[in-house]
Amino acid sequence: MNLIFLGPPGAGKGTQAKALEERFGYRQISTGDILRANVREGSPLGVEAKDYMDRGALVPDELIIRMMEPVLDEPGDVILDGFPRTVAQAEALDDLLRRKNKPAIAVLFDVDKAALTDRLTGRWTHSASGRTYHVRHNPPQTAGVDDVTGEPLIQRPDDQEETIRTRLAVYEDQTSPLIAYYAHPANHRLARVDALAPIDAVTAQLTKLVTGGFGKDGAA
Ligand code: AP5
Repeated sequence: MNLIFLGPPGAGKGTQAKALEERFGYRQISTGDILRANVREGSPLGVEAKDYMDRGALVPDELIIRMMEPVLDEPGDVILDGFPRTVAQAEALDDLLRRKNKPAIAVLFDVDKAALTDRLTGRWTHSASGRTYHVRHNPPQTAGVDDVTGEPLIQRPDDQEETIRTRLAVYEDQTSPLIAYYAHPANHRLARVDALAPIDAVTAQLTKLVTGGFGKDGAA
């Protein structure tokens, strides 16, 4: 079953996508990581996306939908981390998944908003892999250095408090309507995890969902 991770910035979507990738062989598709790689390479998409990302705004739907179509062609189950983020993107995704015959379920990361700023301002990231750490909740073995490659960690430019405020407001305004979209009785494809729990406890909840088959009709 393909998974759509839904939740505000800092809810732990990327952290858990990496854990499930390792444990179950899912392929994580993070639109944020793909966009940041394009920004680093200076590709036309990266040049266009950079200003939106720096401000904490969403990149326009048509750019994102075009970017995602070929990514979903590859075989194997995926975790969509950061896509869809608007109702227009969710409708386009439904169409893509239908055409590619890939069933999917959305997993909402339920988290108290008060925890998010601390998580994001304390986050350190390994740019090339998208691996994340936290100064207190999940520190690397050596401060400032990626455990796997030994390369330096960075703080994302959009993890400044003012940009975080914008990102949270954008989430409320444009992305949170997707909770109702996926929970709609005609749709019924929404599972929830308590994302305020410690990292390992959230992984345990997700493992239960994945190994439990999401219930009879595909929903937890
Ligand atoms: P993106 O990269 O997707 O950022 P985001 O959604 O804001 O999500 P984050 O990566 O900030 O948070 P996360 O939930 O993955 O948390 P993490 O696991 O790292 O998007 C960036 C930008 O790209 C957007 O603003 C937009 O401009 C653009 N964009 C991307 N997709 C787009 C789309 N579809 N449409 C339009 N624009 C798009 O965890 C955070 C921290 O908390 C880490 O330090 C971690 O160690 C720690 N942590 C995690 N879990 C726990 C826990 N359970 N307890 C304690 N600490 C924890």
